[in-house]
Amino acid sequence: MSADDAHHPPLRSYGRTKSRVLKPRQAGLLESLLPRIAVPDPLAGPIGPHPLKPDAAETWLEIGFGGGEHLAAQAVRHPDVLLLGAEPFLNGVASALRHIDEAGIENVRLHHGDARDLLAALPDASLARVFILFPDPWPKLRHHKRRLMTPETIADLARVLAPHGRLRFATDWKDYAAWTLERMLAAPAFRWMAERADDWRVPPADHVTTRYELKRLGDTDPIFLDFERLP
Ligand SMILES: C[S@@+](CC[C@H](N)C(=O)[O-])C[C@H]1O[C@@H](n2cnc3c(N)ncnc32)[C@H](O)[C@@H]1O
Repeated sequence: MSADDAHHPPLRSYGRTKSRVLKPRQAGLLESLLPRIAVPDPLAGPIGPHPLKPDAAETWLEIGFGGGEHLAAQAVRHPDVLLLGAEPFLNGVASALRHIDEAGIENVRLHHGDARDLLAALPDASLARVFILFPDPWPKLRHHKRRLMTPETIADLARVLAPHGRLRFATDWKDYAAWTLERMLAAPAFRWMAERADDWRVPPADHVTTRYELKRLGDTDPIFLDFERLP
């Protein structure tokens, strides 16, 4: 193998991985609860289909769960589903642990790190749903290459989603919605499910408003793009 063939890790798609000092309770949960509910280290090799929760009817994944409000709410709504969450931002993981602890949630497993490592370690067709809600927009042209929705990520999503599985992408940046739509429409494994404008401009009935969504930092109202993994 030549040096050019060597695997290069993808560019960092996230900003800070840590901010304010953790409160003692959050630091305690990182030590006690996180090891109990952590996804096996994806960098150590493939993750089998069942070590996570053998009795789960389905497995869903949220990429970049931020403070974990959406992840926790979906887990409470769907106790028969195993919810995986990936997030490299330590304070976000700590916040999610607090929600999980307070609500006594048993059906969430967390990966404190890059979701792309987790995707690479998951078996084919192992997920029924994936959520990517308000990913870092990287609005400047020179930063577009950091956006998560690359053809490589889309190919990995196609591999891990089961036939008829669904991917939800939401953003409040017009240009990122168009960017994602262009790449998803070029991916033969996916079908955009929208039939009318309200399907992308009205929050879906099963959506849980996220913390970042409430900040309204983008240049448009939130746009929701739902895709089906074609069989
Ligand atoms: C703008 S925030 C939105 C957080 C949350 N989804 C919300 O709507 O409140 C984007 C999040 O995606 C995370 N993120 C970015 N790239 C990621 C990656 N490759 N894997 C997992 N999370 C990632 C960031 O750390 C950040 O917390």
